[in-house]
Amino acid sequence: MTTATTYDVAAVRADFPALRAGAAHFDGPGGSQVPRQVAHAVAATLGSPIANRGSVTEAERNADAVVVAARAAVADLVGSDPGGVVFGRSMTQLTYDLSRALAAGWGPGDEVVVTRLDHDANVRPWVQAAAARGATVRWADLDPATGELTPEAVAAVVGERTRLVAVTGASNLIGTRPDVPAITALAHRVGALAYVDGVHLTAHAAVDVAALGADLYACSPYKFLGPHLGCVVAAPALLETLHPDKLLPSTDAVPERFELGTLPYELLAGTTAAVDYLAALGGSDGDRRARLVAGMAAVEAHEDRLRQRVEDAVEELPGVTLWSRARHRTPTLLLTFADRPAAEVSRALAARGVNAPASNFYAIEASRRLGLGDAGGMRVGMAPYTDDSDVDRLLEGLREAQEG
Ligand SMILES: Cc1ncc(COP(=O)(O)O)c(C=O)c1O
Repeated sequence: MTTATTYDVAAVRADFPALRAGAAHFDGPGGSQVPRQVAHAVAATLGSPIANRGSVTEAERNADAVVVAARAAVADLVGSDPGGVVFGRSMTQLTYDLSRALAAGWGPGDEVVVTRLDHDANVRPWVQAAAARGATVRWADLDPATGELTPEAVAAVVGERTRLVAVTGASNLIGTRPDVPAITALAHRVGALAYVDGVHLTAHAAVDVAALGADLYACSPYKFLGPHLGCVVAAPALLETLHPDKLLPSTDAVPERFELGTLPYELLAGTTAAVDYLAALGGSDGDRRARLVAGMAAVEAHEDRLRQRVEDAVEELPGVTLWSRARHRTPTLLLTFADRPAAEVSRALAARGVNAPASNFYAIEASRRLGLGDAGGMRVGMAPYTDDSDVDRLLEGLREAQEG
């Protein structure tokens, strides 16, 4: 495998069956490829006796063990309490559900803060929940010149009546990593909750929800080498105060009361395997949390080196604009082209087996604020399996697109 100091990308790549199809995947921010360990865990769960959670039969115990293990894994990944890990179909679905539960206590005069940097999944549920309760939405602006969402921009719209601040840990469009601890501190100063969208951030950095000051932190395993589902973590005591709609016979326990219907056990097993995979990138010393912190540091250093390579090369290309400019950011680059739509360049690259889609990627407020309308740009995202040969192919494709 690999250690925190020597990142063996060739060994990582050998673990990803999908890479054998030959494409260079810069589409990780949309959803990462999956190591065979994750696919195996999903298949093994489906190939084992499995029933609804319980303690009588082996099948019931297997289901229960899978859920307990997945909560522990996600808790290790983000530094939280396993008893506050909620799973759901997607971050979007969970955020909608939680927005309704949280907004039950809001009324006219109350305020919710959203930002123009965020993915719409951390904007619209709050805007719509506020409208349903007669509460007011305040918008924290993104600086289009720098790509920054500053604490000052958030402070300008936080007030005594703020009930919740929804902010991203990192932008899935331009990679900006706002100063989340400073922003959540602003929320806490007025007694508001901070809901942090960690979907993009969790794939690229070691996360510590306490250090971020996130009361609720959302992420999606399919962005960090896992299967397609979502999760939200919070302190169990906070979840105890919320009462989502639920079926009469289903448990009222936390966190289960937020997990409507039967959980996807096989995907939970895959999530544990993804977390274990990331931990293994951090070597073999210490507990899983320590290995995850080391593993994500190794991933971050690897991806950042490749980002720098792409950026240096793109600077030399005439007519290419790089929109990812923030001081602190993930290795996620948004590009537009002077003489043709980003979608056209993206299609040309796809024809060469280089996957870098063009869109607003649902960060529609950010795309509009940057002046890119609803078209957005072409996104180039690094992942743990990205290597220099991928970057070579990308740059070659970009140069040819410029010439042709
Ligand atoms: C930053 C960010 N937030 C939220 C989402 C939505 O996640 P999900 O697909 O799990 O609903 C995405 C998906 O692309 C994202 O990138």
